[in-house]
Amino acid sequence: MRRHPYRAVIFDLDGVLTDTAHYHYLAWKQLANSLGCHFDATFNEQLKGVDRMGSLELILAAAGKSCSEQEKLALAEQKNRHYQQLIAVMQPADLLPGAADALQAVRAAGLKTALASVSKNASAVLQMLGITSLFDIVVDAAGIRNSKPDPEIFLAAAAQLQLAPQDCLGVEDSIAGIRAIKSAGMFALGIGKAIILTEADVVISGLDHFNLHDYWQAAPG
Ligand code: BG6
Ligand code: MG
Repeated sequence: MRRHPYRAVIFDLDGVLTDTAHYHYLAWKQLANSLGCHFDATFNEQLKGVDRMGSLELILAAAGKSCSEQEKLALAEQKNRHYQQLIAVMQPADLLPGAADALQAVRAAGLKTALASVSKNASAVLQMLGITSLFDIVVDAAGIRNSKPDPEIFLAAAAQLQLAPQDCLGVEDSIAGIRAIKSAGMFALGIGKAIILTEADVVISGLDHFNLHDYWQAAPG
């Protein structure tokens, strides 16, 4: 059998493996509304994949508000407290359909698995989902300086796996994340809607449609 063209799959967490993207949405919406800012699902697409302070900056800019650094830290902390309350009850049943099967299929095919999430809560969420041991490596907010759409987190994951970027396939639900994967020189699998994730190489609606063989066909070259 021909060797798969990729050597690793690098997964985003929020919105790909579990629906924490919705909890981030709820927590940001409440904060934005408390500041008198309009917040809807369309605007939220711009926040997906962007780190906590970066997301707050986007909300404040859209609302035309200015805050001191101290006020910003307090607002970000308030959002995070709300988010942590929402995720406190998460358990393995909160994995999205197909997520565990996709991770296992990648490993069974002899490829490495990595997590690339800019969330400071990523390790805690992995623990609650019970999937920490399914990853060869985890890169989170602690391991990078620049949030998606900067390619740093995907390049760091490839480097830790001792692989070239073109040997890796990235999986993302956010516009910023797909941009980061493409800037890193990797194949980008989008999770969501093709009309939103226009820069992805292939888009599927969820990991329940994940089929490693399909991306073999779509591999460059
Ligand atoms: C990303 C989410 O994974 O993590 C963003 O897509 C979120 O919505 C970001 O803002 C940072 O998360 P946290 O948990 O560090 O606030
Ligand atoms: Mg995401």
